[in-house]
Amino acid sequence: MRTTAAIPVARRISGFVYAIRNIVAEARKVEAAGQKVRYLNIGDPITFGFKTPPHMIEAVERAMRDSHNGYAPSVGILPAREAVAAELTRRGMPVTPDRVVITSGTSEGIELVLTAIAEGGDEVLIPSPTYPLYTAVLAKIGAVPVFYRKDPTAGWMPDPEEIERQITPRTRALVVIDPNNPTGATYPEPIRRRLIEIADKHNIPLLADEVYGDLAYEGPVPPMASLYPDAPIISFSSLSKAYLAPGWRAGWMAVGRTERLDEVLAGVKKLADGRLCSTGPMEYAIPAALNGDRSHEAGFRAALRERAEITVSCLNAIPGIHTVAPTAAFYAMPQVQLPAGVTDETYVLSLLRTTGVLCVHGSGFATRPEDGFFRVVFLASPGELSEIYALVADFTKDFLARSSH
Ligand SMILES: Cc1ncc(COP(=O)(O)O)c(C=O)c1O
Repeated sequence: MRTTAAIPVARRISGFVYAIRNIVAEARKVEAAGQKVRYLNIGDPITFGFKTPPHMIEAVERAMRDSHNGYAPSVGILPAREAVAAELTRRGMPVTPDRVVITSGTSEGIELVLTAIAEGGDEVLIPSPTYPLYTAVLAKIGAVPVFYRKDPTAGWMPDPEEIERQITPRTRALVVIDPNNPTGATYPEPIRRRLIEIADKHNIPLLADEVYGDLAYEGPVPPMASLYPDAPIISFSSLSKAYLAPGWRAGWMAVGRTERLDEVLAGVKKLADGRLCSTGPMEYAIPAALNGDRSHEAGFRAALRERAEITVSCLNAIPGIHTVAPTAAFYAMPQVQLPAGVTDETYVLSLLRTTGVLCVHGSGFATRPEDGFFRVVFLASPGELSEIYALVADFTKDFLARSSH
């Protein structure tokens, strides 16, 4: 007997949403219809012509030639863990290599820690807007995101007092992304200190996503744990952004020195054993990156600052659009004043179909659909960005005129 019935998937799949990639299916349709698509949806500098530093490539190549092609230790090779520990210690977060785990990008570190600490039904404080991996992982493990608001009228700052009021006996972690995706904000020291105090007082791990730490336009931001090394903070980062190697999936986490985190560290190591290791040869690029030549960084930061300025001036010149100026990374989160009944997704899809410009709607990052936020990745060249924003301007004028009737 043959059947054509679809094989069912687990319920958790419907909760796992990653808008940044999901929206690409729409873009492919537009491309198939013969229109050029400008991809402003994914934060990958390589796609826009930025180059991985050659000494990192050499380190990986050498590792492969030297036969480092077997499984690495599940926590990562010692030279990589030593390099991460030395780097963080130098920047004010004193940590030993045995509290560092090398992961497949920041992403795997986040997933390992959330899996180690949250039961089904537990709560995790997540920023809104957020990087969507957090909500996706929580959907997978059955835990509940509790969103804390960041205020666009206050430069996208979180309100620590509001966060403290949201803590319940089921709160298992506080996620802080600083510098931030999708807003491009960096948090001033008093806010960082308050967030740490809250985590410390309530004995909740603060998950510090610091993947953009080196990409603040004014220069690298110190790790959050440098403000209070005995607080329960876990720092996450990778070679993906500042070191221009996102495809290598080479990242790390560093678990703060407090004994309060010892069981979490042991839990993470247990989970790490199960996936054997992160990509072995790429781990050799970590010491090369952290101990080697970083001259690419200043140029990259300057390129980002220039693009941020173009983005803010072009977008803020469009009637109906306002954007907060980013201070780090390559994202901005403009807001378009939508007429009642129109959603951010309608705006973004209509922009895509009319102009070929692909952004991600704010609701993909957990803002309200009617609020009209969307995220742009401004890694394209200044000339191309100007062209793109001219298309956005023409389109928005028509769209708002049409949809307000
Ligand atoms: C805030 C944030 N965290 C984590 C990641 C994932 O980074 P990785 O490539 O290191 O897994 C990204 C990627 O865009 C990000 O923006």
